[in-house]
Amino acid sequence: MKGKILVTGGTGYIGSHTVVELQNSGYEVVIVDNLSNSNADVVDNIEKVSGIRPAFEMVDCLDFNGMNAVFDKHPGIKAIIHFAASKAVGESVQKPLLYYRNNLVSLVNVLELMPMHKVEGIVFSSSCTVYGQPDILPVTEEAPIKKAESPYGNTKQINEEIIHDTVASGSPISAILLRYFNPIGAHPTALLGELPNGVPQNLVPFLTQTAMGIREELSVFGDDYDTPDGSCIRDFINVVDLAKAHVIAIDRILESKQLEPVEVFNIGTGRGLSVLELIKGFEESTGVKLNYKIVGRRAGDIEKVWANPDKANNVLGWTAKETIEDTLRSAWNWQLKLRERGIQ
Ligand code: UD1
Repeated sequence: MKGKILVTGGTGYIGSHTVVELQNSGYEVVIVDNLSNSNADVVDNIEKVSGIRPAFEMVDCLDFNGMNAVFDKHPGIKAIIHFAASKAVGESVQKPLLYYRNNLVSLVNVLELMPMHKVEGIVFSSSCTVYGQPDILPVTEEAPIKKAESPYGNTKQINEEIIHDTVASGSPISAILLRYFNPIGAHPTALLGELPNGVPQNLVPFLTQTAMGIREELSVFGDDYDTPDGSCIRDFINVVDLAKAHVIAIDRILESKQLEPVEVFNIGTGRGLSVLELIKGFEESTGVKLNYKIVGRRAGDIEKVWANPDKANNVLGWTAKETIEDTLRSAWNWQLKLRERGIQ
């Protein structure tokens, strides 16, 4: 056993895939999740995939005493991966204080508790949203941070600053900030995937639900952008590839390989794909025809963004491996499995 890792938000979409990869690599995992956007049966499915049942504590990261009790109950936690956060961009505009409280106070609690329990490091879920619309593409980690388009995006920027300030103040911890591009797809077993509450806001869950007939039609938000086909361009990263980046980051912290106490990495494929190309790719790789129409632009959308992942490739030794075809098929298989399970 390589050591004990606490994963907040470990029953969520990216969290659950990461728990499995940590277990596959020999780590013992303790999950903390308040189940506000996930289900307890994810723990069963993690066990089905990895053969190991992770410890699970239903605690809200806002609850300082509750979190303290988790560390007491599971002594020897070496590092934390902090996923727990609210992540709906539109909702954050409606309920900014909810987002500031959830996303900022959770991190502050975790950072305060780490030295108290001798936790060495933290891997933080950041986002390419911190770059806004980059001036130079593909975007590197050196690109300037632009003013956030939403309270959600702002919480990611502020959280990065909170971590920098805490480490600079002499707190005996180190950190790796992973800036994710657009995670999509599901586990190849179709036992883990993305299960949004209500109407999905993100492209791929809406797309697979439309293909399933749960939604009538997918709206493509804008075809008049300055891109080859007029639709927005994103860097779609397979969720299992993304999960693996976390394991490498944890290894790096625990093996003291960091060059700086806070390191930042883009986690993307390096390839930009337009929304219309993604739809075409889905139809071609699954054989399922998709009902979609072009509508107006969505407020706050970035025109085009994709990663320069050289730093993650060269320094972490991580690369995105899965093809977009396999990734889209995995998203579809997950949707089929949800139907089979009577969930959607
Ligand atoms: C957004 C956030 C990102 C956040 C992620 C998590 C920004 C700039 N990006 O990503 O930081 O981590 O959500 O929720 O704030 N689209 C359609 N039809 C749909 C849905 C989406 O055409 O029904 C298009 C969008 O206009 C966009 C692309 O698909 O061009 C991707 O959208 P989405 O999946 O929502 O992700 P982002 O907005 O890129």
